[in-house]
Amino acid sequence: MPRLAVLGHPVAHSRSPAMQNAALAALGLGEGWSYEAIDVAPEDFAARVRAMPAEGFAGANVTVPHKAAALALADAASEGARQIGAANTLVFADGQIQAHNTDAGGLIAALPSSPRGTRALVLGAGGAARAAIWALRTEGAAVDIWNRTSARAEAVHLELSGIEVEVQGAAVTAIDQSAYELIVNTTAVGLHGEDPFAHLPLRRDGFGKQVLVDMVYGDGPSTLSMAAAAAGATVVDGLEILVQQGALSLQIWTGQEAPLDVMRAAARA
Ligand code: ATR
Repeated sequence: MPRLAVLGHPVAHSRSPAMQNAALAALGLGEGWSYEAIDVAPEDFAARVRAMPAEGFAGANVTVPHKAAALALADAASEGARQIGAANTLVFADGQIQAHNTDAGGLIAALPSSPRGTRALVLGAGGAARAAIWALRTEGAAVDIWNRTSARAEAVHLELSGIEVEVQGAAVTAIDQSAYELIVNTTAVGLHGEDPFAHLPLRRDGFGKQVLVDMVYGDGPSTLSMAAAAAGATVVDGLEILVQQGALSLQIWTGQEAPLDVMRAAARA
């Protein structure tokens, strides 16, 4: 009876249990497998994770604020997780804790087409930004980075410049919004109703035929998404990223292809 869980703090709001349990049922694994949410404070995280294999857990998702700690305690990690500096997926197997980062692959899978050869702009310099920058550069996009605190954008750019890719991009302060085929908002702006056009270097009337990814998700489309869609941009929202990263995690744990439509429906219910 393998158990799975998402570890976060707080985690009660997480849509992952509904999404993953629906997926497990659709795969015919609902009798044996289960997925729950576990709230764990940062100081208890490492001990909690180390106890999980003996409690029947086959793996776990890890969310804010534990992603760096998850990588740090793992015995082995994927190249992506190591270079990003964070893990959102753990596997307990052969007496080991293995760390993966499916936020990166989830972003790429959520895009309408490959970002190879495109110019992309990532807004933000936190953990979500690092996964997005690494994913896009690894896929062959030139990625510029803007952050409210510009020194953080510079630091993340330099740190991720160690990866061997054809093109890099730069940390930027002045933005020509129309120059990017892809814009990814990883900042928290909009989460609490802030006006994105007051806090981000974007203009409401500055969108065109681009792809906008807004990782912020609430109960309806974000202000940023609506402005971009109205201008003809293709919008990818935070729930689609949640679904795609969850699908990749599920594939790692079960070895089965994830039922994306079932997961989408459950995440949006
Ligand atoms: P995560 O790991 O989820 O990406 P984080 O490390 O807390 O979270 O980063 C939050 C991001 O949102 C940061 O890039 C932050 O900018 P700063 O580095 O300048 O703090 C950004 N952010 C939060 N509130 C913001 C605001 N009102 N305007 C602009 N950026 C904001």
